Amino acid sequence: MRALILILPALVLTGCERAPMVIFADSSITLPDDPLDLPPGAGVDAVIANCTACHSPSTMLQQPRLSREQWLATVTKMREVYKAPINEPDIPLIVDYLAAVQQGTEGQAER
Ligand code: HEC
Repeated sequence: MRALILILPALVLTGCERAPMVIFADSSITLPDDPLDLPPGAGVDAVIANCTACHSPSTMLQQPRLSREQWLATVTKMREVYKAPINEPDIPLIVDYLAAVQQGTEGQAER
């Protein structure tokens, strides 16, 4: 009986050694490519600096079309509710850029 107690763990250990290495399916993940790039334009650098830490371009551009005022409200919400460290002097640049770029996207979608 005592021999069995010694042999069993030994068998288990040997079994482990021969077992194939376990490769977890999710040991590496490939993030999908974002389908959109931020189009060039005045204010794009401000958006990259203040928004892309948390959002992909799609998150910002694939929204219902927003007016300048609505974009301002969204950017203000980012700062006040989500505590996004947005540089205050950049806000008008960001708002103008997003309002302009989004209208372009909307025009294309309607065609
Ligand atoms: C600190 C992280 C952070 C930063 C920086 C940030 N956001 Fe957000 N944003 C969030 C969170 C959290 C949400 C709500 C959850 C979600 O929709 O992903 C959100 C949601 C949004 C939405 C979806 C609509 C809405 O009103 O909820 C838009 C559009 C958006 N952000 C735009 C921006 C823009 C433009 C900037 C740069 C000025 C920005 N965000 C910077 C965290 C951030």
